Amino acid sequence: MSAEQTLDEQSAAVPAPGDVLLEVNGLTKHFPVMGGFPFKRQVGAVQAVDGVSFDVREGESLGLVGESGCGKSTTGRLLTRLLEPTGGTVKYRGQDITHANRKQLAPIRSEIQMIFQDPYSSLNPRHTVGTIISGPMEINNINPPGGREARVRELLEIVGLNPEHYNRFPHEFSGGQRQRIGVARALALNPKLIIADEPVSALDVSIQAQVVNLLQGLQRELGIAFVFIAHDLSIVRHFSQRVAVMYLGKVVEIADRDSLYNKPRHPYTHALLSAAPDADPDTAANERIRLTGDVPSPLNPPSGCRFRTRCWKAQEKCATEEPPLIQLGGNVDGHLTACHFPEDGVAPGAKPADTIPAARLAKD
Ligand SMILES: Nc1ncnc2c1ncn2[C@@H]1O[C@H](COP(=O)(O)OP(=O)(O)O)[C@@H](O)[C@H]1O
Ligand code: SF4
Ligand SMILES: [Mg+2]
Repeated sequence: MSAEQTLDEQSAAVPAPGDVLLEVNGLTKHFPVMGGFPFKRQVGAVQAVDGVSFDVREGESLGLVGESGCGKSTTGRLLTRLLEPTGGTVKYRGQDITHANRKQLAPIRSEIQMIFQDPYSSLNPRHTVGTIISGPMEINNINPPGGREARVRELLEIVGLNPEHYNRFPHEFSGGQRQRIGVARALALNPKLIIADEPVSALDVSIQAQVVNLLQGLQRELGIAFVFIAHDLSIVRHFSQRVAVMYLGKVVEIADRDSLYNKPRHPYTHALLSAAPDADPDTAANERIRLTGDVPSPLNPPSGCRFRTRCWKAQEKCATEEPPLIQLGGNVDGHLTACHFPEDGVAPGAKPADTIPAARLAKD
């Protein structure tokens, strides 16, 4: 591990976690599949999210990671109530908002915001930047002191854009700048929680770090909690204090950042880590795990452990018994893993010196 990485990781450890802001329990979303004859009969269900549980504390950033199709966006949309859950509960500051209606949600609508993956389709091309960013203020009938325009100019400055560009249209901006506009819109109502759904995946690699840095600065300076969705463990590494790994609608591992990266116990986490671009190519050679095949269809997920069709450690038990998400012996508090035959917990590609802190971690 380089000195630079170590520094980055230390700096991402602030701020100290506050009270629980969001409490998600057994969250489930099954999309009905209609068909047969006569029509409009349900013939199946896409099990997009299936019993997901986690907490987000005030000011904390939780990374939500997994391959495409694992249910990350659906989870994000359930949290912001853009989708109605099939089961489970979502509590915000202790209040059950799982099935809250528009009126009941109104007071907290402004506190939970979303940033979308595609900065091209998420901004209305016919609206000026000023209209886009002041949209949430208008919808919620909020008139900040000094007026909406002044607030929009201030927000443009906060996200690193020129306040004079108030009257420009989205097409006049680059992808990275458009995503900054999306960030300004999300900030307009002083949110306490932002769900960022792959906010940099659609951007050039050279721009990604700038936008991640912007979000990280906001998290620290404004104390905003984040659920940061990504398909790649390397991006959330520097951003998240805790990371949850999702596979086919379920959380398979969740832990503090250091514990997850230094001591992954779930084979899927291990595979994702060894595929990360910052895995050390010299030492990862023997350890490197290449995931083959695609995520199976959530219409008919594998029995038992959903990862078993791609897992090199799968045994008979994995097909018959679903592994519970539990704390394994040797793991630090709050490091939960769902696997019958977990890994021994050494990071893929770890150098010998790296395994020492990992071993210490286990005793702490
Ligand atoms: N509205 C929908 N109707 C039916 N299936 C859906 C819908 N939205 C998402 N899905 C399915 O749910 C699964 C999870 O999707 P998604 O949450 O977008 O995953 P991710 O964001 O991890 O790529 C996918 O198989 C997807 O096709
Ligand atoms: S439970 Fe079995 S199939 Fe699932 S990850 Fe563990 S070893 Fe692999
Ligand atoms: Mg998605």
